Amino acid sequence: MAILITGGAGYIGTHTAVELLNSGYDIIIADNFSNSTVTAIQRVEQITDTKIQFYEADIRRYTDLTAIFQNNTIEAVIHFAGLKSVNESITHPVEYYDNNISGTINLCKVMQEFSVKKFIFSSSAVVYGDPETVPITEDFPVSTSNPYGQSKLMTEQILHDIFISDNEWQIALLRYFNPVGAHKSGLIGESPNGVPNNLMPYISQVAVGKLEKLHVFGGDYDTRDGTCIRDFIHVVDLAKGHVKALDYFDTQKKGEVLTLNLGTGTGYTVLELIHTFQKVSGKNIDYDIVERRPGDIVVSYAAANLAEKILAWKTEHNLEDMCRDTWNWQSKNPSGYDT
Ligand code: NAD
Ligand code: UD1
Repeated sequence: MAILITGGAGYIGTHTAVELLNSGYDIIIADNFSNSTVTAIQRVEQITDTKIQFYEADIRRYTDLTAIFQNNTIEAVIHFAGLKSVNESITHPVEYYDNNISGTINLCKVMQEFSVKKFIFSSSAVVYGDPETVPITEDFPVSTSNPYGQSKLMTEQILHDIFISDNEWQIALLRYFNPVGAHKSGLIGESPNGVPNNLMPYISQVAVGKLEKLHVFGGDYDTRDGTCIRDFIHVVDLAKGHVKALDYFDTQKKGEVLTLNLGTGTGYTVLELIHTFQKVSGKNIDYDIVERRPGDIVVSYAAANLAEKILAWKTEHNLEDMCRDTWNWQSKNPSGYDT
C-alpha cells in the first residue's frame, strides 16, 4: 500500500516525501517536472536512504495516471501537482485551469475507478482573499480575485461535491499560509525558476549574491513597521501536517471533508523577516522600500488551533529556524538544483 504524491518533486512535495518515509509510509511520486527536476527526488533518496519509485506523469493525462494505479496499490493521494503563481495565473488563465482543475478532475476520475478515497489537497490562504480581521479561522468567508485562487476554491468545491456523492471519501483541504525554509540537511529546498516572486527566495538570492537588491513593496501600511504581515511556516512543519492528516484518517471509521489552516498562528512583518535573515546568515540584505504591490493583502495570519486540536499537530520551528534553514539550503545550492 503506497501513498501517491502528485507533484512530489516540487518544493513542498519533496519535504513531505521525506516526512512520510521517516514515518514508515511507502510512497510513489508522480510529476511532469514542469517546475522541478529528478535531482530533487535523488536528494530525497539521499536524505532517507531509500529508493523512490517515481513516474514522469502528467495529471492531465488519463493514461499516465491509470498506469500508476494499475501497477501499484495506492492507499491515498496527496495532491501537490499544479501551477502556483498568482501573477502568472492572470496572464495564463487557461494553463492554470487546465493544470489545476482539469488535472485534478482527471485524478479524481482515476481515483474513483480504483476506489481510492483518501485525498489530501494543497489549498491556500489565498482563498480567504482580503480578510476583515485576523487571525483567520477556517469558517471565514472565502473569495478570490485571480485564476490561481479560483482554481483552489473550485477544487475545494469539487471535493466537497465528491464527498456528497460518496461519503466514504476522506478529504483534507489544507490551507497553507506562507511556506518557507528547507530541510535541515540543505539537500532540498525551494528552487524557483527565474526571478522569484515570493519574499523568502528573493531575500535568500540577494544574500547569496544572485540578486542585487530586494524591493520591499510598501512601507506605509497600517502595521507596526509599515510593511505587510504574513504567517511564515517552516516547510518541514507543513510537511508533517500532511503525515498527521493521513494518520488521523487511519483512526477514523467514517468519511469526511476536513478543512484546516496550516500556519503558525503568528504574523511577522516583511522587515522582521529581513532582519531575522540578516541576523542568522550574517549577510547584509540590501533593500529599498518601493511602491505597494497591487493586490497585496496587508495582514494575514492563521488561527492554527483547529489543526492542532484535530491532528495533534503543532509547528515546531520559529522564524530564526526558517531563515537559518533557508540560508543553509541557498548557500549550499546557490543556483538551486541547477548548481
Ligand atoms: P512546486 O511548483 O514546487 O511543486 C509543484 C509540482 O507539481 C512541481 O514539481 C511540478 O513539476 C508539478 N506539476 C505541475 N503541474 C503538473 C502536472 N500537470 N502534472 C504533474 N505534475 C505537475 O510548488 P509547491 O510550492 O511545492 O506547491 C505545491 C502545492 O501547494 C501547489 O498546489 C500549490 O498551489 C500549493 N501551495 C503552495 C504554496 C507555496 O507558497 N509554495 C502556498 C499555498 C499552496
Ligand atoms: C503570495 C500569493 C499567494 C501565495 C503565496 C505563497 C499574491 C497576491 N499572493 O502571497 O497566493 O499563496 O504567495 O506562495 O501574489 N514582498 C516584497 N518584495 C518581494 C516579494 C514580496 O516586499 O520581492 C512582500 C509582499 O509585498 C508581501 C510579502 O512580502 O507583503 C509576502 O509576499 P509573498 O512571498 O509574495 O507572499 P504573499 O503575498 O503572502
